[in-house]
Amino acid sequence: MGGTVVIKWGGGLITYKDQLCTVNLDVIDALAKACSQTGKQLVIVHGAGSFGHLKAKQFRLAEGRIDELSQDEAIYDVRSDMLTLNKFVMDSLAKHGISAKSYPPHEWAKGTGPKFKGDLPVFDGVTVVFGDVVDDEKQGFGILSGDDLILRYATELPEVERAVFAIGGVDGILRVPPARATAEDLI
Ligand code: IPE
Repeated sequence: MGGTVVIKWGGGLITYKDQLCTVNLDVIDALAKACSQTGKQLVIVHGAGSFGHLKAKQFRLAEGRIDELSQDEAIYDVRSDMLTLNKFVMDSLAKHGISAKSYPPHEWAKGTGPKFKGDLPVFDGVTVVFGDVVDDEKQGFGILSGDDLILRYATELPEVERAVFAIGGVDGILRVPPARATAEDLI
């Protein structure tokens, strides 16, 4: 018992990355089952995979407002696609007897990167958050990634024992953002 574990469910693991909005339910069920077998306090941070990245890239949502692009519909679509993916996650957790609550970041977080603004929501049972399109004071909006969320939860909650990265479809995790990374930054 005791102690908190923060887990990232990588988007490339829980979705089929190359096909728009396709979910890997077997993997989600396996992760939910594993989470049901611990006495630890859990925070689950899930990624987007094909529910976020394809459209976000197409409409350059990470860069914020670009006047020549009609991005509003894409913002709406990515947010609602993320809620759809989150529902698969929540349903699977419930099916495995886990009491969990989801806090969509576009409702409580502002800004991107590890210094985003907003109080980290925490639930008595399992807390669930995910990478999302959030409002941003400077550029209008941007992508708050699950990795920034996991960093904040892992460093700000008391008694965090470890951060676990469940990943698939990638070679590993990077110490620094992809744009700055060299081969040595791959863990
Ligand atoms: C990305 O979140 C969020 C969106 C594109 C909306 P993550 O960066 O945490 O997602 P994965 O794990 O790489 O898919």
